[in-house]
Amino acid sequence: MSASNEILDLKPTSEEKSGIESALRPTSLDEFVGQDKLKENLRIFIEAAKKRGEALDHCLFYSPPGLGKTTLANILSTEMGVNIKTTSGPVLARAGDLAAMLTTELSEGDILFIDEIHRLNPAVEEALYPAMEDFNFFINTGKGPGSTTLKLSVPKFTLVGATTRSGLLTGPLRDRFGIVLNLGFYEQKELTEILKRSANLLNIKADESGLIELSKRSRGTPRIANRLLRRARDFAQVKGNGIITDEIARICMDALDIDAEGLDSVDTKIIKALAEKFNGGPVGLETLAIAVSEEIDTLTDVIEPYLIKAGFLIRTPRGRTLTEKAFNHLKISAKGTSSLFKPTT
Ligand SMILES: Nc1ncnc2c1ncn2[C@@H]1O[C@H](COP(=O)(O)OP(=O)(O)O)[C@@H](O)[C@H]1O
Ligand SMILES: [Mg+2]
Repeated sequence: MSASNEILDLKPTSEEKSGIESALRPTSLDEFVGQDKLKENLRIFIEAAKKRGEALDHCLFYSPPGLGKTTLANILSTEMGVNIKTTSGPVLARAGDLAAMLTTELSEGDILFIDEIHRLNPAVEEALYPAMEDFNFFINTGKGPGSTTLKLSVPKFTLVGATTRSGLLTGPLRDRFGIVLNLGFYEQKELTEILKRSANLLNIKADESGLIELSKRSRGTPRIANRLLRRARDFAQVKGNGIITDEIARICMDALDIDAEGLDSVDTKIIKALAEKFNGGPVGLETLAIAVSEEIDTLTDVIEPYLIKAGFLIRTPRGRTLTEKAFNHLKISAKGTSSLFKPTT
């Protein structure tokens, strides 16, 4: 896998899993940068639930990867002053796994966080409905005529789900969330603020101009901003005097094949394919996915949302279409110097 592919990775990288990501996670709504409207609403829901002395209503967060869903789930637990248990759709393989979590690991008011909730197996999902609605869990014991259904009661908990697109959820599951919130891409200023905070926490020396340069290239995504910060630190130490300046940031971005608009080699591959193989489109999603050898899900959940937000691509009923901005951008980058700095694979 190329260096730039890793920048775009859907999942946290091994470096991030080893703790760097949780070290950088804001722990309160005040520390959480941006998403002002969403934060305002959450504050009201939290205060109201606390006043009533009740658990927070079930809450669904959806957004492309790296925008803060897991962070917010954890913030909800601190702001509510309750425990959080974390699991994910693919991990909860059987209804019994869910029963164990709900009946033994949670207390009244606690949060059960299910990441990638769109990947729940249908049997588990169905078992979740009565737990969400009436705090009951039904479990079948035995087989055939002798089988019985046992009803277990579940403490009044809050389910927090995270997914990359709300449309991936079945209707019945989506309808059972009282609070459904979408996180959007971050503005450049917000990303600079996030980078300042991270640089402080990690003791990284950086100029304001260096951080601004990084924030422009982060695809509107805090996880990517934090990743670029760590890579720029490497370049600052080896090619500079340890301080991330705008020049160091640019050297680092060139080496990682991230262009002035923050597009990496995968983004560029996609807009180039649309321009060169399909005359700018419209082209169907499946055809495009095959042409660029990417998974359909990666295209729709990770790559496209930013290309659309940044105005390079539009989704039409007949397929994906390239914008004039993308054509112009391709002409500029064709003349650019980024090919001098191709990562060694
Ligand atoms: N609003 C924010 N303010 C500061 N840092 C953020 C914010 N949103 C995300 N991050 C940082 O970005 C990283 C990825 O966030 P995460 O919550 O894991 O994203 P997701 O679960 O949506 O993929 C975390 O390390 C977190 O520190
Ligand atoms: Mg997450």
